[in-house]
Amino acid sequence: RRRIGVMTSGGDSPGMNGAVRAVVRMSIHMGCEAYAIFEGYEGLVNGGDLIKEMKWEDVRGWQSRGGTLIGTARCMPFMERWGRLKAAKNMVLRGIDALVICGGDGSLTGADKFRAEWPGLINELVETGELTQEQIEPYKHLNIVGLVGSIDNDMSGTDATIGCYSSLDRICSAVDDVFDTAASHQRGFVVEVMGRHCGWLALMASIATGADFVFIPEKPPRAEWEDQMCDIIKKHRSRGKRRSIVIIAEGAHDENLKKITANHVKDLLTNKLNLDTRVTVLGHTQRGGQACFYDRWLSTIQGVEAVNAILEATPETPTPVITIRENKIERSDLMEAVAMTKAVNAAIAAKDFDKAMQLRDVEFKE
Ligand code: F6P
Repeated sequence: RRRIGVMTSGGDSPGMNGAVRAVVRMSIHMGCEAYAIFEGYEGLVNGGDLIKEMKWEDVRGWQSRGGTLIGTARCMPFMERWGRLKAAKNMVLRGIDALVICGGDGSLTGADKFRAEWPGLINELVETGELTQEQIEPYKHLNIVGLVGSIDNDMSGTDATIGCYSSLDRICSAVDDVFDTAASHQRGFVVEVMGRHCGWLALMASIATGADFVFIPEKPPRAEWEDQMCDIIKKHRSRGKRRSIVIIAEGAHDENLKKITANHVKDLLTNKLNLDTRVTVLGHTQRGGQACFYDRWLSTIQGVEAVNAILEATPETPTPVITIRENKIERSDLMEAVAMTKAVNAAIAAKDFDKAMQLRDVEFKE
């Protein structure tokens, strides 16, 4: 019976537990054994109790639990070849030759690298006497499938990452709450949301809550933004708005890549518009907590598809990532999706913001 491993890696996101549950149950349904790798790549490198067989009941009720119940970690040894050798050895000893990894682009790139080094890694383990030829014989091919778990919705090639809608929901209700208190005092608020390189959460939240101004990394404001922002807010106030809300992605910057901070925006509203202004940093409340319906649904059907992809893979199949495009679950080429994601970040770093927006597939009209 085939043994399929599942792990979560990188920053947690709501829906990761739903993905693990789906992979475990679909593996069992398809006649395979399911193994959870605890604490991300650390579990793969250290083995032992961190690799555990999962039965159907072990994932009962996981849909409604936030975070990742099998843990996640940023694992340095896996970045090194010696760490990946240890991981390969653990996989062979446990009879696991297929892995479903739910994580962001960094974690999934690591997985593809691991696969690319296979079977070199296990051959080396035979040469050094750590494994025998007979032991590695059944495990000549490693299957990897990626699921994208990230609140930032920062992976190209998929319309939604597991977790992004839960996070957006949380941001919207937090901004709604801020609205109430802001309106009571006629205050200004600058709300900082997550998104190191990706402004999706900030942009969507600003549309959904009717914010006055938004800052995102892909489309920095033009040079005279300070006056522009103040004019817009003044205009909104003159129409009777009792509160002003500016949403800022944590990775926001100006056209010269100089960071724009929430405090700087606050000072502008205070000094130029004479608004009593506060800063609210939503922080990790955006990441923890229950998954919304969409993320439970997405993680479940993508987890099922991940197991199908494992069972249908050939040694020639490029490592797939399970995506959703125009509401259809698809298998895409993982490294193509990662390359496109990196291209957005490179466009931002090169100050080619039109290209960044184009790559994100967002049409911008002022
Ligand atoms: O999950 C992605 C992300 O939310 C980023 O937007 C944010 O910068 C980062 O995680 C923070 O993660 P941590 O606190 O785990 O380093």
